[in-house]
Amino acid sequence: MAKRISLSRAARLVGVKRGTLQQQIRAGELKTFEGEIVLADLLHAYPDAQFEDSSMLERVEQIIEQATFINPDSSVRKPDNVALTSRIMSLSEELARQKRDLSRQKRLLGRYREFTGQLTEKIEQLAAEPDALRQLQAWLEQAVTNISVDDDTIDQPFVNETFLRVMSAQATVIPSNHEFFIEGAESILEAGLRGGLALNYGCSNGNCGLCKLRVVSGDTRKIRHHDYSLTEAEKGLGYILGCCNTAMSDVVLEADEAHGSGDIPKQSIPIRIRKIDHPNPEVIIVSTRTPRTSRLRFLAGQGATLSADNVGSAFYPIASCPCDDMNLQFHIALDKQDPIACYLGETAKANDLLTLEGPVGSFVLNENSANPLVFIAQGIGFASIKGLIEHAMALDVAEKIYLFWIADSDEPHYLNNLCRAWNDALDNFEYVALTTADGERPGDAIMQRLSPGKPADFDYYLCSDEKLRAGVEQFVESREIPTDQFLYEKI
Ligand code: FES
Repeated sequence: MAKRISLSRAARLVGVKRGTLQQQIRAGELKTFEGEIVLADLLHAYPDAQFEDSSMLERVEQIIEQATFINPDSSVRKPDNVALTSRIMSLSEELARQKRDLSRQKRLLGRYREFTGQLTEKIEQLAAEPDALRQLQAWLEQAVTNISVDDDTIDQPFVNETFLRVMSAQATVIPSNHEFFIEGAESILEAGLRGGLALNYGCSNGNCGLCKLRVVSGDTRKIRHHDYSLTEAEKGLGYILGCCNTAMSDVVLEADEAHGSGDIPKQSIPIRIRKIDHPNPEVIIVSTRTPRTSRLRFLAGQGATLSADNVGSAFYPIASCPCDDMNLQFHIALDKQDPIACYLGETAKANDLLTLEGPVGSFVLNENSANPLVFIAQGIGFASIKGLIEHAMALDVAEKIYLFWIADSDEPHYLNNLCRAWNDALDNFEYVALTTADGERPGDAIMQRLSPGKPADFDYYLCSDEKLRAGVEQFVESREIPTDQFLYEKI
């Protein structure tokens, strides 16, 4: 049977986004069979894919590093060889089976080709002979014993695909069919969040039971002790805690995920300031950290209220990705009317405590859409947009991401270098820095870049003031872009 691989693995193997393969499938350039791609079809579509480049080696080093974990009881770093060994063992068995099947097929094909060629030749030779039949019979007996068998080795793409399977287990979540990879000995929960999924969880350390999920197929292993007790019935049904288990093989998991802001509970968390940066005189970037056992569960694009004792409180968007739920970033305009902004900009220092309440907001990604994404930020509106972009990158499904950042001509884009780094490092990302003068006609500037695509083929996320909104809305209406493809958040 032809070797098939999942869409996620195929994307990793040839080094493209999963969304790119989905686009090719929609265009009829690639076929899927029960959600999988035939390896030979993939190689036909990507004949120039580099299978020997150094990224494989870098990947090994990275994953071996991730295969170590902190033992919470002893605080000693121990290599978790068991997870990797188990994956290698199960893969070796499959490899041996595949090789046997492949050899058998090659043997049969080789015999058939060689035999038919020689037979044709012999019949022509013996056509005029009086005892042709007897000679043919003798030749046939000899020929069958002489047929050589080409038991060749497995080709490089196949080896690389199996290599990826050794180094990481693939998890498929039902009913959503979301996929992510579990690398080294990281927990299923950590891997799921890193992969951009909004899994249900609470404490992250085995106390609350909120990360409970059911293993439908595949093998898992407990990597840390947990105080939360699963009932015998739950264990019998295959329930485990996602924050305390890793995967030993590819797994299918039944798990709860948040599908909208209403699915995330409000939380109140003490957070510590890690550092405060001043990228320009008008803006501060506040990096904070939650306690390890009380992280913030939120959706990208949401915000939270920050309070400081004896100062006050104010609401700010979270400018980071839920995939890093301990390290939260806030971009704050230094408004003299905002006591928290003044406190953070002038008095606060590293290690000071704040109280966070949230998350709040519905400016979140539509994960059901496969359209390319267009993000438009005005000034400090980049904070919400940054969270959405980082989340879209973690999900790794968008075929193309555009960022248009409009700033006042006398105030530079305060994280211009970061946006340019994304632009340089990611082949599906395009960054356009615009100034207010361009911003007066945002539709024209944007369409120039999106051309030759049709405006209605994209999803738009805008975070700006009302004036810019009116301009962009006019553009959206005039191009007959469906309203559910345009999401707005006021700065
Ligand atoms: S998140 Fe609380 S037990 Fe896993």
